[in-house]
Amino acid sequence: MNVVQAVANPVDIAYLITGILFILGLRYLSSPKTAVLGNRLSAVGMLIAVVATLTQGIVNWIVIGSALVVGAAIGILSAQRVKMTAMPQMVALFNGAGGGAAALVAAGELLKYVNSGTPITYDVSFTSVLSAVIGALSFAGSIIAFLKLQELMTGRPITYPAQQVVNALILLVILVSWGLVVAGVQPVLQWFWIALGASLVLGVLFVLPIGGADMPVVISLLNSFTGLAAASTGFVLGNNVLIISGALVGASGTLLTVLMGKAMNRSITNVLFGAFGAVKTSTAAGGAGHGGQNVRSVTPDDVAAMLAYANEVIVVPGYGMAVAQAQHSIRELADQLEKKGVAVKYAIHPVAGRMPGHMNVLLAEANVPYESLYDMDDINPEFERADVALVVGANDVTNPAAREDKNSPIYGMPILNVDKAQNVVVLKRSMASGFAGIDNPLYDDPKTVMLFGDAKKSIDSVVAGVKAL
Ligand code: TAP
Repeated sequence: MNVVQAVANPVDIAYLITGILFILGLRYLSSPKTAVLGNRLSAVGMLIAVVATLTQGIVNWIVIGSALVVGAAIGILSAQRVKMTAMPQMVALFNGAGGGAAALVAAGELLKYVNSGTPITYDVSFTSVLSAVIGALSFAGSIIAFLKLQELMTGRPITYPAQQVVNALILLVILVSWGLVVAGVQPVLQWFWIALGASLVLGVLFVLPIGGADMPVVISLLNSFTGLAAASTGFVLGNNVLIISGALVGASGTLLTVLMGKAMNRSITNVLFGAFGAVKTSTAAGGAGHGGQNVRSVTPDDVAAMLAYANEVIVVPGYGMAVAQAQHSIRELADQLEKKGVAVKYAIHPVAGRMPGHMNVLLAEANVPYESLYDMDDINPEFERADVALVVGANDVTNPAAREDKNSPIYGMPILNVDKAQNVVVLKRSMASGFAGIDNPLYDDPKTVMLFGDAKKSIDSVVAGVKAL
């Protein structure tokens, strides 16, 4: 096919439009202001790709139609019902499905060649096994990630002796069987199934030793694997839109993985092989072991008075705000404080919550102005000038041990310097630890007071207190 024919092909034009819409969608997703538009553009792109693909000779409309209806129903229901706090496991599940689909399509193509007796070219055999290996690894790993995050199995790292040696041996099996498929050594299908089976096992073993707090990073990495598997399947099928979208997912997943690693000051190898949280150190005694001797508990009215008479308040949201769904109440509190002339800013840590942009999305939902949201590097110098740092369900991202205690498991992770503020108010339900499972010396700081309870209920009471002043 020459260039003119290719350009004239309506399906290729549709795929080109899809590619452009996906790229624009990703671009717009990078800012909360344009994220909804980005999402819509990508959805339209996907619709165009699906319709264009359906025009290309469907073997069985009943099977395809039922799959479309079931898939769309699952997508709509989960988008409506799944809580924001459960988003990482939903992404893991969907991502696993993508990897599994890529592996199955590659297997189907190879079976077609073998059953029809058509000679398999090197590019087809190489890319089929590539899709199957990465897709199966991503599928199995994502399922384990889902089970861990959904607490259907322990979220702690599961380690055993000679783990890396076992993984290396499985990898060797995969590479050898892959080579045998490409070399056309009979029976080709047998080697293919061995490579696929070994990849499933590797996917499970690869994720088992990774701890709960590192799971979002792993999900992002597995996401990029799925993208590569899809791109590779695109080569098997000669489908341009799969190649483009797979490459986009692969690249964006890789970038996100690197950015998350940076925000936690952890290398990707440390996340993957460090078994973070497997062994608790003395500083990592967890909530149950917290002495709490110096902790001072206050009432909502005390907090209301502190905030109402402040010049500047910095709100530090974390995972607990997401659990409590306290964002609307926080917005109301900020409105009340601003009426009294208090400047209110929000400090956003890049890994606060459980997924990138978690806090931005929730605060945008409550119509908190984007201009009031400050990134970590911009807000950190500001804490010294703030009268109150109001920590709403954030824990690890405010832990001074990350800055000061070389023995802390999170030593080196950049944090929000809330302890530099004149006063610190922490809203949480108990002395339990955060995601990293370690104590937070901030709570023993003489500047810190604790308001125990569900963050939404606490903030609502504080709002009532501020209004009464
Ligand atoms: P966490 O350290 O997980 O702390 C959340 C705190 O919220 C807990 O201490 C909990 O204490 C409190 N909480 C829970 N439910 C609450 C409720 N209803 N009302 C009030 N408080 C509540 O959160 P963080 O500071 O946002 O840190 C995020 C963690 O996730 C970090 O360890 C980070 O490395 C990790 N992580 C995040 C990402 C991304 S992309 N966000 C990626 C990888 C890892 P109580 O139980 O006492 O209430």
